[in-house]
Amino acid sequence: MSDLISSEINDGIHVVRINRPEKKNALTSEMYAALADAVVSADENPEVRVLVITGSGDAFTSGNDLNDFLQNPPSGEDSPVWRFIYGIASTTTPLIAAVNGMAVGIGTTMLLHADFVYASEAARFHLPFINLALVPEAASSLLLPRVAGYRQAAELLMLGEPFDADTAMDAGIVTAIVPAEDVMAMAMETAAKLAAKPPSALRQTKALMRGSDRTVAERLKAESAVFSTCLTSPEAKEAMTAFFEKRAPDFSKFN
Ligand code: COA
Repeated sequence: MSDLISSEINDGIHVVRINRPEKKNALTSEMYAALADAVVSADENPEVRVLVITGSGDAFTSGNDLNDFLQNPPSGEDSPVWRFIYGIASTTTPLIAAVNGMAVGIGTTMLLHADFVYASEAARFHLPFINLALVPEAASSLLLPRVAGYRQAAELLMLGEPFDADTAMDAGIVTAIVPAEDVMAMAMETAAKLAAKPPSALRQTKALMRGSDRTVAERLKAESAVFSTCLTSPEAKEAMTAFFEKRAPDFSKFN
């Protein structure tokens, strides 16, 4: 497991913490690989009944490491990022997210695959794909309209502006908003309740609610193909270079 992803299993609850606070928990390939392994092992390890994912410092995660996007773009469905996304979309292990701070990009889209999402009052969410000349991933182009309705999904995905916990709650992304200091306790309380349930029936309950959804798997594939093409486009290069140069991107020269 990567040093930047810490992992602990106690009483059937596997807590995975993203641990790169100085970069707002931006996720590199190596970190996705560790997260993907955690999801797969939660399904395979009979000791694990619930998976909890959280961040460290003041962020949940600022999403994909933009340097990695530029230097080392994910190639194909065997890449760590796609393994992680397919993992959370197909796991039968109950998944709880404790959103302790900002949740950007996949930091927000992964929440659509969680069964319970507890967000700090101070948490901020952002689906900035369009600003990066990218498209939504993790089946969010399907799941967000489904939970939020088309109007709100269009606002969040096509305007790409940050939003607060109340808006995330209104959009159906969040289960409950709690004071910052209680987020992890709330997640662990629910995790303990779930860990005490009959494990097979619990997994089957989740599988019935989510598992047989072929449209999600199809959308993941469709998004993955478009996303990979967008990633290497001149528009995306301009957007990401602008981030590191701390300037606004200029898309006026593209048509
Ligand atoms: N990839 C790479 N580095 C990132 C990053 C990311 N996704 N998010 C933050 N960082 C780095 C910053 O470059 C900065 O590094 P530095 O200290 O070496 O300059 C450090 O993390 C702290 O970030 P900073 O921007 O100073 O913090 P902030 O509190 O002002 O803003 C964010 C936090 C998350 C709003 C802002 O960093 C941001 O917009 N990041 C990009 C998010 C993004 O587009 N993710 C991809 C989604 S597909």
